[in-house]
Amino acid sequence: MVALLLFLLTSLGPLLYASSLSTCPNCGDSAVPYPLSTNQDCGNSRYKIYCNNGMLEFLSATGTYYKILKIDQSSNKLVISPPLILKDTCYSSDLTEGGFLLHEDLPFNISTHNTVMLLNCSDNILLSPLNCSTNSICRQFEEKVEEGSGCMSTLCCHYLKDSAMSSHRIRVRVGGCTAYTSLVDFKPDDSLDSWNYGIELQWLPPN
Ligand SMILES: *[C@@H]1O[C@H](CO)[C@@H](O)[C@H](O)[C@H]1NC(C)=O
Ligand SMILES: *[C@@H]1O[C@H](CO)[C@@H](O)[C@H](O)[C@H]1NC(C)=O
Ligand SMILES: *[C@@H]1O[C@H](CO)[C@@H](O)[C@H](O)[C@H]1NC(C)=O
Repeated sequence: MVALLLFLLTSLGPLLYASSLSTCPNCGDSAVPYPLSTNQDCGNSRYKIYCNNGMLEFLSATGTYYKILKIDQSSNKLVISPPLILKDTCYSSDLTEGGFLLHEDLPFNISTHNTVMLLNCSDNILLSPLNCSTNSICRQFEEKVEEGSGCMSTLCCHYLKDSAMSSHRIRVRVGGCTAYTSLVDFKPDDSLDSWNYGIELQWLPPN
């Protein structure tokens, strides 16, 4: 009996300890709400993010860091910056890694509030629900936003990344589409200067 108690205490101890870990200190000016964790002594280690030079970053499954723009603890969401499109090209900076990829076994996924624009696509990717028409918003991005100018005169498309699609990746590749960007909570009437660039991720709260 005593042995059993001891066993329970020693085996459950680390679990109890882990769940009572505290909120992480600020990173630069940014708060790091629980369960997000910037080091092993705080937060929950399954929700790892990084504090690099006073800036919060999210590490993808392919080892690319994306700047964290915003964290909303009450809705379990954070927004990362889409990768840059390299100057005078139509290549996303994460093209060689195949775009954005999340580990399937981590508690993060891509939310359903992202409108993704795929740029410099080859025509074999033309399939619904992609909107690749001449009035797709990706044309405005190419024509009016400096960053998109390297993609002009190629095929581009946009789509709402909803639950019908993989919530763990945004894929780009040579021979498919070579660049992308994303808008959070885009509504068809929104004008270009109110576009909210980002990729919104959602986390499953720890139980
Ligand atoms: C494509 O997107 C544009 C801009 O939002 C919209 O006006 C148009 O109706 C869409 N076309 C299709 C086929 O969904
Ligand atoms: C567009 O993609 C093709 C391959 O899919 C690539 O060869 C070409 O360089 C890309 N164009 C630009 C402007 O980056
Ligand atoms: C993403 O995760 C949230 C919270 O864990 C979950 O409610 C949602 O169904 C997931 N979405 C997809 C498309 O898997």
